[in-house]
Amino acid sequence: MGKWRWTLPLAVAIVASTVVGGGAGGIPTTLDGPFVPVTSPLDGAGFRGRAVDLPDSDPRVRRRARGFEPEQISVSLSATPDSVWISWITGNFQIGEHIMPLDPTSVASVVRYGRLRQPLSQKAVGHSLVYNQLYPFEGLKNYTSGIIHHVRLTRLKPGRKYYYRCGDPSLQAMSDIHVFKTMPALGPRSYPKRIAVAGDLGLTYNTTSTVDHMRSNKPDLVVLVGDVSYADLYLTNGTGSDCYHCSFKTVSPVHESYQPRWDYWGRFMEPLTSTIPIMVVEGNHEIEEQIEGKMFEAYNSRFAFPAQESGSFSTFYYSFNAGGIHFVMLGAYISYNRSGEQYRWLERDLAGVDRKVTPWLVASWHPPWYNTYKSHYMEAECMRVEMEDLLYSYGVDIVFNGHVHAYERSNRVYNYTLDPCGPLYITVGDGGNRENVTTRHADDPGHCPEPLSTHDKHLGGFCATNFTSGPAAGKFCWDRQPEYSAYRESSFGHGILEVMNETHALWTWHRNQDLYNSTGDAIYVVRQPDKCSVQPMVTKPHKTQTLISDS
Ligand SMILES: [Fe+2]
Repeated sequence: MGKWRWTLPLAVAIVASTVVGGGAGGIPTTLDGPFVPVTSPLDGAGFRGRAVDLPDSDPRVRRRARGFEPEQISVSLSATPDSVWISWITGNFQIGEHIMPLDPTSVASVVRYGRLRQPLSQKAVGHSLVYNQLYPFEGLKNYTSGIIHHVRLTRLKPGRKYYYRCGDPSLQAMSDIHVFKTMPALGPRSYPKRIAVAGDLGLTYNTTSTVDHMRSNKPDLVVLVGDVSYADLYLTNGTGSDCYHCSFKTVSPVHESYQPRWDYWGRFMEPLTSTIPIMVVEGNHEIEEQIEGKMFEAYNSRFAFPAQESGSFSTFYYSFNAGGIHFVMLGAYISYNRSGEQYRWLERDLAGVDRKVTPWLVASWHPPWYNTYKSHYMEAECMRVEMEDLLYSYGVDIVFNGHVHAYERSNRVYNYTLDPCGPLYITVGDGGNRENVTTRHADDPGHCPEPLSTHDKHLGGFCATNFTSGPAAGKFCWDRQPEYSAYRESSFGHGILEVMNETHALWTWHRNQDLYNSTGDAIYVVRQPDKCSVQPMVTKPHKTQTLISDS
């Protein structure tokens, strides 16, 4: 395919010169693409920072709450801007061979809130639960959580600040006053200023740098694309490892996890999450198998999701609106079959999007489809085969993924072919967890993985095959950086999405080793609704994959 036509609308040029301070060249737009693939050289031996977990003695992860005072407070969005969820935990967890779960009804779930700090005249009541992570094997420890509370606030005004306290007033155990801001009203000229996107955070010293950089960018919303606490890199006795697969010499009957790491993560994140809404979608490190096939207990219990509000009735996939952006969060570790519930919900959800109201359509899930690193190369092919046509037919603008611990931005692509109407795929699995940054590419000489080695049992089926067309036809890997990869760099960081109007958005990627106001990558994403019209796809039956579950 030849070079796309260079068109740089005046509005973009003006915005670009404003953002870069008139610097030479300015920031490119997707209309300038497809770009010649660029691999940023490793920064010395590659920026690795301190991929060392914060210890349980770190004051940022230690329990400060007394009695049943709330801790690990967080705000998350409902499906529409007039509603949010407030979540928190009371009481302490227990870990040991013999544990006694707390009674979740013993502490009330109350939020007092209002537009002014005093008085907090409105009140909302929610529900509470505890979850257990059980390993009933000799020598292993069981875990039971503190009481987890979720309260939904409704009838809020869009784009406004609200003050709140949460807790149980009858126990005189209310939190300090916190403040959050609702998303702006729906509409093509109404957008949150900045949306932070990060993945694979974990809880290392690198994570603290990522979160510091993120806060310095003053986001209005944080989207986490999976792999949160990495509690599953620990044995139940609290011994940690740097790698999931090479972890421990003694093999347990089931892969262990050390659930207090979730509590540490919640405590560390509270200064951010109690005031900036955070939306999370599951990654493979949230699977956390237990006996009797139980999975995802921490993920399902600790976060609130707009599951019912978005009609999915699932914590694994849901949608929400942020001004003129419709977000679709998808589950990669449950069924994505065309005959499955998630796919049918996605069809309904996409069909219900009015692009005159929410022009931007952003999708997010954990493992990337367009990844050129050796790590997790072609791993999510079955999901791509099932879902790509549907997302393309509805004109998804941007896809955010994690999983691969590095940064990569694609050219616009569909079915491995450069396509000016395909989504822009961005991988930000570079949040800073202890597994460290990945540096090898599948196209590095001698590093193309064996196809069968790319199979992940949790992703269902096996679809990774050789390319059938293009420069890599007949091969599993390209012999150079693939043309669908525009830019890749092995550094830790996070990204910021600033949607400006119904056709233009600025994406910037911020590296941890840089000063707060620096950008490691920047591009204007330009929509072309006239050229790339939405043509809803009629789904035909498709081959069925073997998957974990369909619920
Ligand atoms: Fe992952």
